[in-house]
Amino acid sequence: MIENPADAAERHQALARELEEHNHSYYVLDSPSISDREYDRMFRALQDLEDAWPALRTPESPTQRVGGAPLDSLVKFTHPTPMLSLQNSYDEEEIREFDQRVKRFLGEGEGKDLQYVVEPKLDGIAMELIYQEGVLTVGCTRGDGTVGEDVTENVRTIRNVPLRLRRPVPGMLAVRGEVVMTSDGFQRLNTRRLSEGQAAYVNARNATAGTMRNLDPTHAAKAPLRFLAHSTGVHDGLDLESHSGFLATAQDLGFQLAEGITPCGGMDAVVSAIEAIGARRASFNYDIDGAVVKLDEVALQEELGFVSRSPRWAMAFKYPAEQANTRLIAIDVQVGRTGKVTPVARLEPVFVGGVTVTNATLHNAEEVARKDIRPGDTVVVQRAGDVIPQVVEAVVAKRTGTEVPFVFPTVCPECGTDLVRPEAEVDWRCVNESACPAWQRGKLEHWASRGALDIEGLGTKLIAQLLEKRIVSDVADLYTLDGKGDLLSRLERMGEKSVDNLLDGIDHSRQAPLHRILFGLGIRHVGESVAKRIASTLLSWEAIQGATLEELVAVEDVGPKVAQTVIDWFADADHRDLVRRLHDGRVAFPAEDPPPVIAEDAPFMGKQVVVTGTLVEMSRGDAKKAIIAAGGKSPGSVSSKTDLLVAGPGAGSKLAKAQSLGIEVIDEAEFLARLGRA
Ligand code: IVH
Repeated sequence: MIENPADAAERHQALARELEEHNHSYYVLDSPSISDREYDRMFRALQDLEDAWPALRTPESPTQRVGGAPLDSLVKFTHPTPMLSLQNSYDEEEIREFDQRVKRFLGEGEGKDLQYVVEPKLDGIAMELIYQEGVLTVGCTRGDGTVGEDVTENVRTIRNVPLRLRRPVPGMLAVRGEVVMTSDGFQRLNTRRLSEGQAAYVNARNATAGTMRNLDPTHAAKAPLRFLAHSTGVHDGLDLESHSGFLATAQDLGFQLAEGITPCGGMDAVVSAIEAIGARRASFNYDIDGAVVKLDEVALQEELGFVSRSPRWAMAFKYPAEQANTRLIAIDVQVGRTGKVTPVARLEPVFVGGVTVTNATLHNAEEVARKDIRPGDTVVVQRAGDVIPQVVEAVVAKRTGTEVPFVFPTVCPECGTDLVRPEAEVDWRCVNESACPAWQRGKLEHWASRGALDIEGLGTKLIAQLLEKRIVSDVADLYTLDGKGDLLSRLERMGEKSVDNLLDGIDHSRQAPLHRILFGLGIRHVGESVAKRIASTLLSWEAIQGATLEELVAVEDVGPKVAQTVIDWFADADHRDLVRRLHDGRVAFPAEDPPPVIAEDAPFMGKQVVVTGTLVEMSRGDAKKAIIAAGGKSPGSVSSKTDLLVAGPGAGSKLAKAQSLGIEVIDEAEFLARLGRA
């Protein structure tokens, strides 16, 4: 029995270190260094020690991987620097063009071989792990790249994630990578789910996403997940000169990397490496959907910078879609939330592109007719990466003669009203907006969805039950459910807690910002970004509802077609009634925040200012923000509309183009002076 705190702390540190070491050997290096029994014995010794000295039970202790209690909801987290995406390419030529572009930009000769790294493109869930002074503090999903969801408690349960780095790194370190599910573990998980009467997951990525967003970390702790590092975010305490250097450092710090990562001098080596990874694809114990080519040297990466949200120094390569033959059992017709009618192929299950496919969209009536796909046909099905499965063609040679061409229905399969096809559109529609069950379901699902009112607990199955039992018939009815807990608790899978959560979720949505309400109403052509623009320009619900065509067209990104749709929507008496009932249900319709006011005499008012080369005082991203805040726009490329080019050292083709167009070019010092920051 240890009697003094110093001895206890010393013993704790020794045991914790040793356990971390064995953990690393087992999960990261895949070579166990002790027996499971021995590991369990040490683990229990550490637990006993922490029971006796609770102050030693710090979050990074190996006993604390599954420490967290279930959460009520996931909290948003803003990435310290945005997580970007990659541009895709599909053949060798595109990859070679990428290399040519890089060289042109850097002012290198065409014959020069640049150093690249080729690695698998992991088909999992992108994640950022943040370490402060070497200790894991946050694990966050990518989300929209700027804001993700804090899933730290789930990340902590992933056995190959270091809770503490294997050597100290001062300050903040953000390591990015992909959470994947092992392929063998995924098969076992599905077998177990089926034996327990649960639905099988469609693929490992969906299983990973579902598990990572689960509020109870015990699920993630049981799932066969791994984190594979592939890039960095903020890294105050590390001096990184190359991507390969980062990979070596990451391994040193305790992270696992994907297999098959290959340094390559020049494009021939890159192309072979992509092929080699493709050939090994099935042997990896996790799904990949392509390869990623990255320019190795960080200084060159910085010089190249980004276009929109992708780096110019990296490129993804997607392997061709896998194809398989199967039988088309039937063509069903589905009705969406705006009445759109879509033919769907029901297929005999076939394994293709890493998943079992049973349905595939046939897009529209014209497509079915053009491809002449008939029920009973043998068809070619393909699936690439995260794309929905497609029916490529019918294998006509395999017809028996009994297959008859598909006749598209003339009435809505859900409500029986005549379908219409608006002029110049390809889709047939059900226009029975007020009474068709498909519209009703779709509208409620859209209202509750994440980009709209984001109502926790109001999913597809519950919506179907609410409609079927006639508890609600539209979104306004949701706000009459307060006090009807008894009624709700009689629904399937609705315990007291679920009912409370649902009512809380609905209540919370009463305060939703205006743009979410506008988007949630599901007005055609009014997507998330258009809704935001309209709300932040017109500011109040009254102004939106009463807007004229001129006022709407004056909103950025809103053209006459969208404007007319909005006006028509509000002109409909049923819609006005719906809005009135939402008001009655105490939905707040709060005034939207106006965008910050920019003074008329702001330095770049109305100007297009392009930034290129390396800046010293600020990143290019910050320079762009400064331009926008000073009234300007900052597109990624130079054109005849460009007013000004800010060129730092290393500027290449943009500088040449600006000069040839006679556009004014200034350096960073002058730029800062004009911003009033010098
Ligand atoms: S690098 C700036 N490397 O692909 C680019 N991303 O479109 C930083 N991904 O969701 C990403 N495998 O998580 C990089 N070997 C790899 C990757 C990879 C998969 C994901 C990434 C992101 C998406 C980018």
